[in-house]
Amino acid sequence: MCGIVGYVGGRPCKELLLTGLERLEYRGYDSAGICLINGRADITRRVGKVAVLRDAVGTSAHPATTGLAHTRWATHGGVIEANAHPIEACEGSGVTVVHNGIIENYAALRRELSEAGHVYHSDTDTEAIAHLVEECYSGDLVEAVHKAYQRLDGHFAFAVAHRDSPGVLVAARRGCPLVVGVGEGEMFMASAIPAFLAETRKVQHVFDDEIVVARTDGATFLSGDGTPIEREVQEVEWDDDAAEKQGYETFMLKEIWEQPDAIAQTIGERLYHGQLQLDGLNLSDEQVRGLSRIVFLACGTSYHAGLVGRYLLEEWARIPSESDIASEWRYRRPVIDRNTLVIAIAQSGETIDTLAAMKEARACGAHVLAVTNVMGSQMTRECDSVLYTRAGLEIGVAASKTFTAQLTLLYLLALRLGTIRGTLTGERAETLLAQVRSLPDLVRSTLERGELVEPIADRFARNEFFLYLGRNIGLPIALEGALKLKEISYIATDAYAAGEMKHGPIALLDDSTPVVVIATDGHVYEKVVSNIEEVRARGAHVIAVATEGNEGIRDLAEHVLYLPRTEPELQPVLAVLPLQQLAYAIATRRGLDVDKPRNLAKTVTVE
Ligand code: M6R
Repeated sequence: MCGIVGYVGGRPCKELLLTGLERLEYRGYDSAGICLINGRADITRRVGKVAVLRDAVGTSAHPATTGLAHTRWATHGGVIEANAHPIEACEGSGVTVVHNGIIENYAALRRELSEAGHVYHSDTDTEAIAHLVEECYSGDLVEAVHKAYQRLDGHFAFAVAHRDSPGVLVAARRGCPLVVGVGEGEMFMASAIPAFLAETRKVQHVFDDEIVVARTDGATFLSGDGTPIEREVQEVEWDDDAAEKQGYETFMLKEIWEQPDAIAQTIGERLYHGQLQLDGLNLSDEQVRGLSRIVFLACGTSYHAGLVGRYLLEEWARIPSESDIASEWRYRRPVIDRNTLVIAIAQSGETIDTLAAMKEARACGAHVLAVTNVMGSQMTRECDSVLYTRAGLEIGVAASKTFTAQLTLLYLLALRLGTIRGTLTGERAETLLAQVRSLPDLVRSTLERGELVEPIADRFARNEFFLYLGRNIGLPIALEGALKLKEISYIATDAYAAGEMKHGPIALLDDSTPVVVIATDGHVYEKVVSNIEEVRARGAHVIAVATEGNEGIRDLAEHVLYLPRTEPELQPVLAVLPLQQLAYAIATRRGLDVDKPRNLAKTVTVE
C-alpha cells in the first residue's frame, strides 16, 4: 500500500518520477504527490490518481535532478490534499518525506513534537517522521534520519529529501518494501522494481531495519545501529514491456490472457529432462515422509489457492492439510510442530499478515515454505524454503495470472510430495504430470471460449447480488469467482459451500438472483445437481460451469460455461477462467476501472 519513488542523478527527474508513480499506482490511488529539489522543495499534491497530478504539474521542464514522489492508499487521515504525500515538516524546514506503512507511536510523537514547537499540517502518521527528522537535523541528513528512525515504532518504508541536500536521498525500512535501482550516474528508490524498470534492471534490495543513502554515484547501506553493510547488485529478469498494456484495454485483460504463459513458465522451471525437481524446497525425502500436517496460510486470492492446495495435498500426498486466513491464524494459539509444513502463499511476498503468520509458524518450529511471485521479496527472507511462481509482473489489482500460477505450483508440489511419500504410483504421477503439462493449452482453449460470458454479463450486469456455489475442490473457485466480481464490479457477492446453502443463504434467493455454480465432473457432481435443483425451485437463475460433454446440465442451467475435460483436481485452474472473464465483462459494462478498483491496493503492507 502506497508507492514511493525517488531519484537522484544527473537528469531532470520530474518525468522519471511521474512515470515511476504510474508504474506503482496499483499500490494505492487515493492521492499522489511529487517533490522536486532545486534550491527549494517544489511540492505538488493532488487528491486522485497520478493523472490528476500530471495535469497539475504540467508539461513544462523542471531542472531538479533530485526528487521524491508518492501515490497514497490512505490509512491515517482522510483522502484530502493536506494528507497527500510528500509531507513537509514545519514550514521553511526543508524536510520532505514520503512513506508507506504505519507509524504506531505517531500520536505520542505528535504530542511531544507539538510541545517542542512543531506545527502540524496534516492528520497523517507520516508527519511524525518529517518533524522528527527536522528535530534531529543539524546539517547532516543521514544522521538526522538515523536518529529519527530509532524513535519510530511500527512498520514502514520512508524516504527523506532535504532542500539543502540536493543529490542525496535517505530512506529507511522496517517491514515494508523498498528497493534501490542502480543506474549510470543515477540512483532510484522505490517500493517496487517496476517504478524504474524502464531505466535499469540492476537492483539492490533494502532489508529490514536498514537505512540507505542514495547519491548520484551509488547507494550506501547502514544497519539500524549505523554499521555499514555491503549489498550486492542483482539483475532482474523482468522486462519493462510487462509494465505496458501492449494493446490490451486494461492490465487485467492482458494478465488474464497471459495465463497460458504464466503456467508454462511456472512448470518449465521445474522440469529437467522431463523429471520434476523442486529446487528451493529444502526438505529431505526423510523429512517429507515425516510430515504429519500441512498448513496453508495466505490472504485474499492467495488464500483461495491455499484452499485448493489443501485438497491436492490430502488427495495426492495423503498429508492432513488445512488452510487458514493469515490474519486469523496468527492470533490463534496454533498447535504446530517441527513435523508441520507451513506453506505461506503471497503473490507480492510482502503482505504483512502473511509475513506475521510466517514468523509465528517459525517460532513454533514448523518448516515454512514461501510461495511467491516476487524474487527478493520480504517473505523470501523469512522462510526455510521458497518456490517461485513465474507469472511475471501483475499490475491489475485483481489477481488473475498469479492465482493460476500458484495453483500450478501447488500441483507440482503435491505431485512431488506424493511421489516421495509413495502415495502416488510412478505411473499415476506421470499421468498427472502430463496433465499438468497440458494446462497451458487447456487454459488457452478455455479462454478462447470467453465470448460465452458476454450474454450473461448483458443480462445480469445491473444486478446487485450474485451467489456463488461450489463443493469440494470447486468451493475455492466459487470463493475466488465471487471475490473477483465484488472487487472489480462492486456487486455484493456471497460464496458458499453448496451443501451449506440450505442452512441460511437460500433465504437470499428470489427470481432475480443469478447463482453461479461450479458443476464440473467429479465425485460430488450429483450432490451439486441437487443443490442446483434447490436454487431452481426458488426461481433463481443458474449459471453453471461444467465439463464439456455434459449435455444434461443444459436442462438445469440457464447458461452453461463449458471447460475442457481434465483430471478433477486440475479443474480449478480452468474453472476460474470464465469467472474472471465474467467479472471483467460485468465490470466494464458498469463502466468501472478494473485495474484500480476503489479502496483497494495491490500490496497490503498494513494489518
Ligand atoms: O500479495 P498477496 O498474494 O499476499 O495478496 C493477497 C491479497 O491482498 C490479494 O490476493 C487480493 O485479495 C487481490 N485483490 C485479489 O484479487
